[in-house]
Amino acid sequence: MKDKIKSLQEQLQDKIKEVKTLKQLNDLKTEYLGKKGCVTALTANMKDLTLEEKKEIGSLINKFKEDVTVLLEELQSKIEEEELNKKLENEKIDITLPGLEIKSGSPHILEKMIEEVEELMISMGYDVESGPEVEKDLYNFELLNLPKGHPARDAQDTFYITDELLLRSQTSPVQIRTMLANKEKTPIRIICPGKTYRRDDDDATHSHQFTQIEGLLVDKDISLANLKATFEIIAKKLFGENVKARFRSSFYPFTEPSVELDISCFNCGGKGCNICKETGWITVGGAGIVHPNVLNNCGYDSEKWTGFAFGFGAERLAMLKYGIKDVRTFYLNDLRNCDTFNRRENI
Ligand code: DAH
Repeated sequence: MKDKIKSLQEQLQDKIKEVKTLKQLNDLKTEYLGKKGCVTALTANMKDLTLEEKKEIGSLINKFKEDVTVLLEELQSKIEEEELNKKLENEKIDITLPGLEIKSGSPHILEKMIEEVEELMISMGYDVESGPEVEKDLYNFELLNLPKGHPARDAQDTFYITDELLLRSQTSPVQIRTMLANKEKTPIRIICPGKTYRRDDDDATHSHQFTQIEGLLVDKDISLANLKATFEIIAKKLFGENVKARFRSSFYPFTEPSVELDISCFNCGGKGCNICKETGWITVGGAGIVHPNVLNNCGYDSEKWTGFAFGFGAERLAMLKYGIKDVRTFYLNDLRNCDTFNRRENI
């Protein structure tokens, strides 16, 4: 027995040298101290010994067991420390490395254009309103002096949801909503930027979804002169002090008279270039004096009240201002749309 213990001790010394990982250590622990391990097996062999021998060998086995436990525990701490050091070595943080770049956001070019108009109009005493994109036929057409069957409805090829519900084809219904909501029938100055929809085939200048900026002013004794003055301010602020504004006669059912809003070409100064298609002028929207029927439809007595209204295409303004050639680029997830326009010429 003594020889057996001695040889186990020697074997253990050799085996310990081989152990490099916690897994190997656990295997060795099981081999020596486990239920079926060699130390337990020694105890089982004691039953044939004399009492004297049992005492002596028993204490030898206990001592051996203690030694094995201590040795293996020491080895475990050593391996754990080594593994930790290795991990720390691998995960070393190099504090001299430059940090990850945090990209700062910037507004989408279309949003920027809208905000520019909003700020300007707010400075002139206008409120910013909004309305639903799913609109009643009543507000999108009928109360705007476009009864069912009116030929001018065809110009706005509309997405109908039901006979009475549609995707608004213009932001003009917000005029109706604002006038109806104003129960005291006091003066109104609002603009409404918003999405609009028409059954157009998408190309460089058409999109089935686009953005309008509507304007409405209702007060006493309002004339085309007020509209002209307001439009001149807008044109100069958006496109430069040298820009001139001009009205061209037109037709809209909700205004009488109606005009097209033109600005002199900011690019060529009116001489003619490819931006103004050699005409020297660029159309940026429609406008007019609010039709008496529209005022009356909304509870404003047209004998007492007058007003003007206008509608700009927001994409058109942004395309002109920032030299964008294809309206579809606004709707692509192209980060150049959110750039500071230094790279606009790439689009
Ligand atoms: N709603 C018109 C359109 O979509 C634009 C417009 C023209 C709006 C004249 C107005 C206006 O308020 O007075 O073509």
